[in-house]
Amino acid sequence: MRILVAGGAGYIGSHTCLVLLEAGHDVVVADNLCNSKTESLRRVEALTGKQIVFYEADVTDETAVEKIFSEQEIDGVIHFAGLKAVGESVEQPIRYYHNNVVSTLTLCKVMQRHGVNKFVFSSSATVYGENEIPFVETMSLLPTTNPYGETKVMSERILQDVANVNPDWSVALLRYFNPIGAHESGRIGEDPQGIPNNLMPYVTQVASGKREYLRVWGDDYPTVDGTGVRDYIHVMDLAEGHVRAIEKLNEEKGVLIYNLGTGHGVSVLELVHAFEKANGLTIPYQVFERRAGDIAEFYADASKAEKELGWKAERTIEDMCRDAWNWQKQNPQGYEE
Ligand code: NAD
Ligand code: UD1
Repeated sequence: MRILVAGGAGYIGSHTCLVLLEAGHDVVVADNLCNSKTESLRRVEALTGKQIVFYEADVTDETAVEKIFSEQEIDGVIHFAGLKAVGESVEQPIRYYHNNVVSTLTLCKVMQRHGVNKFVFSSSATVYGENEIPFVETMSLLPTTNPYGETKVMSERILQDVANVNPDWSVALLRYFNPIGAHESGRIGEDPQGIPNNLMPYVTQVASGKREYLRVWGDDYPTVDGTGVRDYIHVMDLAEGHVRAIEKLNEEKGVLIYNLGTGHGVSVLELVHAFEKANGLTIPYQVFERRAGDIAEFYADASKAEKELGWKAERTIEDMCRDAWNWQKQNPQGYEE
């Protein structure tokens, strides 16, 4: 298949481009580079020995997206092109709603015009809100408490409505749990701008000496050791899940919803200790107050993706810690040489 990967220069997108190319698919990337650099794609090309067609384009811009579809024979779209910082979304709601919702609408509009009807969407476990654990695809969604989460809920609804009236459409809504780690080579990985919000990039920056110590946001949750519990998933497992999903859309119509997680919860301190053990390092940390908006514990019921996609996360927490550190060590400034 020839896949348009919107947001393909970013963290999850670049790993997915690599796996798509290795599986024999052709890749066209559209990215406005608001949170990435083309160096990630150059490295994917070097790792795979294959070419990527790249458009520097904003996928909320209908004219720009129309140009891509008129120049390329696209069979399906994977849409990663979202803004993803939860705190920033509270401060800049208009920017977040515009970027994350209009991008979905624009892609749908142009796809419809060109008879392209396979859409894989980057959703998030955040759409479950504070539901019972484990999160199951059949659950009713609860409020997410921030504009970022709401843009994911809205995009899911838009895609469901579009698929309902277009019986030839097939849509996969992939709800990611917490992606971490990097490609085994250490050549591509997560390159956060500024101070990282998420746990693993913060830990790797402490390990490299860029930050003094980790702030653990709360140790009084009703969890195994009082710290927050999440379902961390290796980004390469996640990338492979996308390839299975887009291939599944060739066989099946309608809307398919899958959790992409491991099904196992890991606490902040368990992750820190796994990182220390895997890499022979010490991570200094201090406990602070809980972070506003955080949930104590969540993890996936990952059985549906295994049953229907034949996909299961294979990599361990040690693999995630080793690969995250390998990337950070080799690229202390991220993609900046
Ligand atoms: P990322 O920021 O590394 O990648 C997103 C890419 O999209 C970037 O390259 C950015 O430049 C591009 N982009 C953003 N808006 C665009 C636009 N309007 N037009 C063109 N390009 C645009 O983020 P990521 O971690 O790779 O996440 C990818 C997707 O997965 C996002 O939609 C995110 O919300 C979702 N997601 C991420 C996580 C996570 O923990 N990383 C968890 C759940 C869901
Ligand atoms: C965050 C987002 C979520 C998004 C996800 C993936 C919030 C409130 N939620 O989820 O919507 O889908 O990222 O992008 O931002 N932690 C620390 N110290 C740190 C960083 C994190 O103790 O410096 C703890 C957190 O309290 C949490 C765990 O580590 O218990 C994981 O945090 P994080 O990586 O930010 O992911 P989420 O909070 O799950």
